[in-house]
Amino acid sequence: MPTDRLILRRPDDWHVHLRDGAMLKAVLPFTARQFGRAIVMPNLKPPVVTAADARAYRERILAALPDGFAFTPLMTAYLTDTTDADDIARGAAEGVFAAVKLYPANATTNSAHGVTDLCKVEGVLERMAGIGLPLLIHGEVTDQSVDVFDREAVFIDTVLAPLLERHPTLRVVLEHVTTEEAVTFVRSQAASGRLGATITAHHLLINRSHLFQGGIRPHLYCLPIAKREKHRRALVEAAISGEGPFFLGTDTAPHTVIAKETACGCAGCFTAANALELYALAFEKAGALDKLEAFASLNGPRFYRLPVAEEKVVLERTPGPVPDIILLPEGDGVLPFKSGETLPWRFAGGV
Ligand code: DOR
Ligand code: ZN
Repeated sequence: MPTDRLILRRPDDWHVHLRDGAMLKAVLPFTARQFGRAIVMPNLKPPVVTAADARAYRERILAALPDGFAFTPLMTAYLTDTTDADDIARGAAEGVFAAVKLYPANATTNSAHGVTDLCKVEGVLERMAGIGLPLLIHGEVTDQSVDVFDREAVFIDTVLAPLLERHPTLRVVLEHVTTEEAVTFVRSQAASGRLGATITAHHLLINRSHLFQGGIRPHLYCLPIAKREKHRRALVEAAISGEGPFFLGTDTAPHTVIAKETACGCAGCFTAANALELYALAFEKAGALDKLEAFASLNGPRFYRLPVAEEKVVLERTPGPVPDIILLPEGDGVLPFKSGETLPWRFAGGV
């Protein structure tokens, strides 16, 4: 008999784009109803660079939170060529910063202020290693002559491996891994306990062929882009392994329909509307629902040196719809991943 009810410790989302303003108000309730904590990405326009920026952004998030939600946003600093190591260290000591995010300049959405050359931030990385503050990495090279499907694997060889050698105590999360190479590399470092990896729900569910199924599918376009089926399988195998370095990070990244359905559409899949249901679908397809709690609720806090949640949540096997569209007050809206489809599991709240 397959199980009809899943109870797990309240999960956390270790990679979220909450945006700001009306978009923040529209998307935050979806993340806050399922997750206890979330690592909030700093790629706003302008980006969250200083501890003062992060404090102000955290206030805006908390102000947008509907009553009755116990949700803790964990703030990150957007690393730039001119980041002040003292400000980062102070922000970490004062509990403002949970991590620092590295976007190679122009690798993805709102990354124009990212790091142009790692040699410019070696001093900041040294300080972070000293205080144990994790570096979260968008792991793609920006060299446009490298095939878009190879940019993660090339990054691992040419940037990440040397970086870990130069900073032997720096704690790092390779974000939203999409390749077999990434899974193998993360495993190769497992003994050190200092390299983690987030895996999104959409990368567990789609491969690159889905982007072109019956026509071009802008709502499945994200960065790093989905890869071949063999890579999707490697990600599923890593997620269901229960191994400590692999944990949940949705990379839910809302963009308006207008910004997605255009000649040059933005990268990002909005998965927050049904995040846990999507992960449950992927784990059940792999026959590994019993491994969901380690991935969603245990491995992440252990990596971040935070307590695991005491509270529990329930998923029920009740078919439930993914909303068609999340409307924004000034018009336009955000289309959820698998919008309009029915999912077999439904998040039923806390117990
Ligand atoms: O698809 C993505 N969207 N990848 C990223 O790295 C950024 C994100 C966004 O902010 O929209
Ligand atoms: Zn992201």
